[in-house]
Amino acid sequence: MTAEPLEIYLEEGDLLRALRSDVRTGLTAVPKWLPPKWFYDARGSELFEQITRLPEYYPTRTERAVLAAHASEIARTTAAKTLIELGSGSSEKTRLLLDALTARGSLGTFVPFDVSVSALRQATAAIAADYPGLRVRGIVGDFTRHLDRLPTGGRRLVAFLGGTIGNLLPAERAAFLRTTRAVLERGDWLLLGTDLVKDPGLLLPAYDDAAGVTAEFNRNVLRVLNRELGADFDPEAFAHVVVWEPARHWIEMRLRAGTPQRVHIPALDLEVGFAAGEELRTEVSAKFRPGDVDAELTGAGFATRRRWTDGRGWYALTLAQAA
Ligand code: SAH
Ligand code: TRP
Repeated sequence: MTAEPLEIYLEEGDLLRALRSDVRTGLTAVPKWLPPKWFYDARGSELFEQITRLPEYYPTRTERAVLAAHASEIARTTAAKTLIELGSGSSEKTRLLLDALTARGSLGTFVPFDVSVSALRQATAAIAADYPGLRVRGIVGDFTRHLDRLPTGGRRLVAFLGGTIGNLLPAERAAFLRTTRAVLERGDWLLLGTDLVKDPGLLLPAYDDAAGVTAEFNRNVLRVLNRELGADFDPEAFAHVVVWEPARHWIEMRLRAGTPQRVHIPALDLEVGFAAGEELRTEVSAKFRPGDVDAELTGAGFATRRRWTDGRGWYALTLAQAA
């Protein structure tokens, strides 16, 4: 079957409005910051796919191994009719779930949901071609704003993989989980992938690879601002910086100005100064202890039913049910 046309809840104009407002807020704040969703234009999504294959970036292959070991149990337990995937990207690992759910015969519809149109176009075309008989309904949206657009009814399983929940700040995370619960019905399922707290000696290289792909990914957000807002950032003038914040148990990615910079952003009629050494926070990637995940899920109205980790305890998949 061919994929249905994408359902687009973030039109070009919408995206630009949101980008303008985020950039004005973030670049006039002290310290400066930007929300991570702006990494993911076509090039950003492609760079992220490269990151998933880096030797240092253990999360993708670890999550894939946990999924491979337990996909049939997930299919048996949830008997889902509709699989919704938030921040779906290429949906490569998700094929393990699609295989298990289609083998069981329960699945009718797959709904990948992402802010990246390019990633979604590729993923929906590839999956529709490989899973004849499956309805593939791609949704372009922001999972912090558009969850009310998700299809209703049927036994739904929402998958949120890749540790992407860790890219939300704690208050955003709580709001996200509450909203997800609110759009689900009692008995629907949530499968949540979370990276776990571990030795910073393992964490840091995953976000600072030797080949420099993550550094390019980080700088890509400046290229997005140059293209979309006419800004004149010199991406090469900013160094990729990765820090482990033990008190918050998250990785922070930053861009550090090597020398003083003045940046013009015509679309905002804004000029922004960076002092030498000044840093712009571009992303956090929180790491969890299994108990944290339970507490946050319970607080949002979910009940944890199963948890699986890999042998080294690096990564957890949690299957929870709307209570
Ligand atoms: N799930 C995939 C991709 C993870 S990367 C994996 O596990 O490999 C994070 C994905 O979330 C990207 O595809 C990005 O485009 C998407 N994303 C980031 N912020 C988003 C937001 N606010 N709303 C919707 N999608 C978002
Ligand atoms: N969800 C991924 C993570 O936190 C996203 C990610 C991986 C990422 N590497 C990155 C985001 C580098 C920005 C930069 O692990």
